[in-house]
Amino acid sequence: MSGQDVTRNSPQCRNCACEYNRLEEARFWSRIMQEHALFIKLGLPADQQELREEAQVLIDVFMELRRRLQRVSRLEGQLLEDLIRAVRAIIEFKAKILRDLIQCRAEPGSNYPLLLDHIRREAVRFINFLQRPVPQDPLSMLLEQEVFWLRIMKEHIEFIIHLLDPSERELINQAEELRRTFSRLLETARDLESMAETRPRTFNTVVRFTQDVISNTRALRDFKGAAFELAKLCELLGIVSSPLLLDHVRREADKFLNELNVLLPELRRCSSTLGQQDEIIHDEQMDEFFPIN
Ligand SMILES: [Fe+2]
Ligand SMILES: [Fe+2]
Repeated sequence: MSGQDVTRNSPQCRNCACEYNRLEEARFWSRIMQEHALFIKLGLPADQQELREEAQVLIDVFMELRRRLQRVSRLEGQLLEDLIRAVRAIIEFKAKILRDLIQCRAEPGSNYPLLLDHIRREAVRFINFLQRPVPQDPLSMLLEQEVFWLRIMKEHIEFIIHLLDPSERELINQAEELRRTFSRLLETARDLESMAETRPRTFNTVVRFTQDVISNTRALRDFKGAAFELAKLCELLGIVSSPLLLDHVRREADKFLNELNVLLPELRRCSSTLGQQDEIIHDEQMDEFFPIN
């Protein structure tokens, strides 16, 4: 048996997703959900009292869930059920506000429609994680993550650009440069994800691309961190509702980097387990052309 076969059949390769700590994921995303509810509340017009109260209920619900998540060592049972119910509720809340804006049934306040859609997608990712086992193949998992997060990162930059005061020309210029970079990266990630549907046994370009993504995401993370520090010191002009928003997007960049740092070594170590399925597909295709009977 060749070295490659040994790697391909290694249980470590098939189980790369096991390195994810479900409890840590739930703690991370629950804080994100609580902050989303806060940002929505801060962005609602003052006369939309009912929606503001609904947002406050969600803030309290996630605050309590986070307390419970701190006290346990496993994510299961009633806590898991309550968490899924709360995430469903916040997804519907975000969707409802977005629908009203799309149909011009409500005043927008300062919640951009794209921001509502963005935080709705983040919540959907969280609930998918809670409800479904994570796919096992490192290549498809890595590309799926890159497509998801690069879109999120690109949108963060777009929100920052639109929340900065027009007089913040230097920062806007830096952000525009980052936006161009992340638009390109996202487009490439989508291309690579599409190519990976052909189930290649190895795809070294994805490794090189991911290294590029990591270095650019580090730069973006630092940009967000610096903007957060400026906002805290009251040295930043703009309409950011709370400096917490800048820290929030910085944490999401760090989350993306953490996920890449788990999966990139997996991809390097394992030639894809898809190779085995490849052979099956290939055999079936051959049967079609050359039936035995
Ligand atoms: Fe978020
Ligand atoms: Fe985000």
